[in-house]
Amino acid sequence: MENTDKTRTILLTGASGGIGNALAHSLAVRGHSLLLQGRSERVLEQLRSELPEAHRHLVLPADLCDAQQRCELIRTCHSLSSGVDVLINNAGVARFALLADTDDTAMRAILETNLLAPMALTRDLLPLLLRSPRGAVINIGSAFGHIGHPGFSIYGASKSGLHGFTEALRRELGDSRVKVHYLAPRAVDTSLNTDAVVELNRALGNRSDSPTLVAKQCLALLEGGRSARRFMGWPERLFIKINAVLPSLVDSALVKKMPVIRRFAEQNHP
Ligand SMILES: NC(=O)c1ccc[n+]([C@@H]2O[C@H](COP(=O)([O-])OP(=O)(O)OC[C@H]3O[C@@H](n4cnc5c(N)ncnc54)[C@H](OP(=O)(O)O)[C@@H]3O)[C@@H](O)[C@H]2O)c1
Repeated sequence: MENTDKTRTILLTGASGGIGNALAHSLAVRGHSLLLQGRSERVLEQLRSELPEAHRHLVLPADLCDAQQRCELIRTCHSLSSGVDVLINNAGVARFALLADTDDTAMRAILETNLLAPMALTRDLLPLLLRSPRGAVINIGSAFGHIGHPGFSIYGASKSGLHGFTEALRRELGDSRVKVHYLAPRAVDTSLNTDAVVELNRALGNRSDSPTLVAKQCLALLEGGRSARRFMGWPERLFIKINAVLPSLVDSALVKKMPVIRRFAEQNHP
């Protein structure tokens, strides 16, 4: 996995998903060498075979909620002669349900996948990232990490946590060469969203983006000179700003939508 001045070795988690697939293609076209992570070796191998210069990429299946499997993944990364220049924490799970319908197992799965695993992976790869002249971390958050949305309280908490982690780390590593980026997409057309979520978005008039657009924004972060954060979508970007200064306005707007949200949430988890 020989890199040039412009290309890097990138660990991409959640490569087998909708956004991961689009990201893998965009990064591979730019000549980067990818470590493709997900849980299904078969899906990852299929993806690898479809990428330009397939031989440059490696498949590293692991369940990120399993500490042992995470350790093995890290051990493999540390054994690579190329090192690892960039970590993209993209793997994630979501669950559209009212809090009353969310048990401990579901809570734990969301928090472990979306928050604990990215923090642990970042910590364990830090020695490699610090050694790289172009080290970077990109954390994929969500608009719901900035606008608490009914039916997504645990998911939103995980993404708010990821944003807080990213902000602190950006400052902690501010005197190093490692850039720390954050990208918060709004809804994206992937199978993360169940039919009920798609219908809810339609009923509420929420628009969604393609995974390719998310990949494009992620590349812009990677290729930009400075640590940065980006929020995707209009009017979502405006709502995030309003929510930060006048949350009571957003409270009343969303409370009015509760009958619709409750109907779809109950349809999702009868
Ligand atoms: N889609 C949206 O509307 C949306 C909006 C904002 C932000 N996001 C964020 O974007 C990221 C990617 O989402 P997506 O839409 O591409 O979802 P997706 O299509 O469902 O893909 C999720 C990816 O995460 C991986 N993953 C889940 N749990 C894992 C675990 N325990 N260990 C290892 N890998 C695991 C999945 O691997 P397997 O294939 O093995 O399941 C898959 O590759 C997530 O962080 C999500 O929160 C999505």
